[in-house]
Amino acid sequence: MSDPRMSVPLLDLKAQYLTYADQIWPKLQDIAARQAFILGAEVTALEKSFAPYCGSAHALGVSSGTDALLLALMALDVGANDGVIAPTFTFFATGGTIARVGARPIFLDIDPTDFNLSASAVERYLRQECVVRHGQVYAKDSGVRVRAIMPVHLYGQAADMSALMALAREFDLKVIEDAAQAIGSEIDGRRVGSFGDVGCFSFFPTKNLGAFGDAGLCTAQDAALFERLKIFRVHGGEPKYYHAWVGGNFRIDEIQAAVLNVKFQHLDQWSKARQRNAAWYREEFQKYNLAQHVSLPIEKSNVRHIYNQFMIRIKDRDGLKKHLASVDVGTEIYYPVPLHLQECFKDLGYQIGDCPHAESAAREVLALPIYPELTHGQIQYVVRSIAQFFSA
Ligand SMILES: Cc1ncc(COP(=O)(O)O)c(C=O)c1O
Repeated sequence: MSDPRMSVPLLDLKAQYLTYADQIWPKLQDIAARQAFILGAEVTALEKSFAPYCGSAHALGVSSGTDALLLALMALDVGANDGVIAPTFTFFATGGTIARVGARPIFLDIDPTDFNLSASAVERYLRQECVVRHGQVYAKDSGVRVRAIMPVHLYGQAADMSALMALAREFDLKVIEDAAQAIGSEIDGRRVGSFGDVGCFSFFPTKNLGAFGDAGLCTAQDAALFERLKIFRVHGGEPKYYHAWVGGNFRIDEIQAAVLNVKFQHLDQWSKARQRNAAWYREEFQKYNLAQHVSLPIEKSNVRHIYNQFMIRIKDRDGLKKHLASVDVGTEIYYPVPLHLQECFKDLGYQIGDCPHAESAAREVLALPIYPELTHGQIQYVVRSIAQFFSA
């Protein structure tokens, strides 16, 4: 048993809340006094600060990260008989939204080093499993027209956008970045959400910047596309009550925007604290010489990893998870089943073995606590507990 015994939850939002609570309540009281709940000054302020933060020309607050993806697909007119390329190893919303607009998800494998969509798998797919007719790309097997790539910046680590954008340009595909887990992540100083046509962010409470419930945001570079996103956010009505399109209610609440405007002031400091925690983990793992048992997340020299999650890889993942639970360390498996093997997608015809890197990641990954308020002592306890598992 570890000694002295500690408790390290996977996430502790209460500690963080105390640091900004004073700033939140006057804002919420003001909104209540004004009874101004929908698309008001707080939403405008959020959008004004997030566009430049994400290196983008435009930003639009929306109801969740899932709705950001759905809205992006709808505004880009992706639907029936279309295909969208996405990584199979991701949160369900990535594939779920593609299916919800009636398009066919084309799930491809990941790069095992960073868990993100493999640009070489995308290239192989486009060159070998598609045909180009009249400048448009069609999948040889299903016949769908491939319209877009939806890379995910998983765990806060940016995907290989230079290779993916080059393929998108060559094959004339739209790019929707699923940046739900990666606000502030960068490649060569350029923020995620600024590479593709639309960037989609989540403010789910567990993210580096979390709301008091569900909220999200879309970034866009093109003014005309931004206008479409804006119109589709309110049912596709422009002017109000006149519908050339069918959109949805994808509005962010004014109250959530107010919370996010306060918490935004702390975002970079929190992301830095996560990076410091990651560095502490690396030091501790080295101390115990655990490299033969545990793979740590890679840090690419040109990428700013914002560590929404700190994912380790171990062969006996389930055994370690059980051991850590027994010593009061919270962990989670993101994600146990890749999307190509989810039951709801079985009609797409994927088989076990189609995406081997994703399938082995799903068996081996484990998220350790990385939230900003963790102490050095807690991190030492987590790694000591892991070392004990391997020495038992
Ligand atoms: C990769 C990814 N995409 C999309 C989403 C959906 O975001 P939300 O929960 O805000 O709807 C999430 C949320 O966990 C996510 O991690």
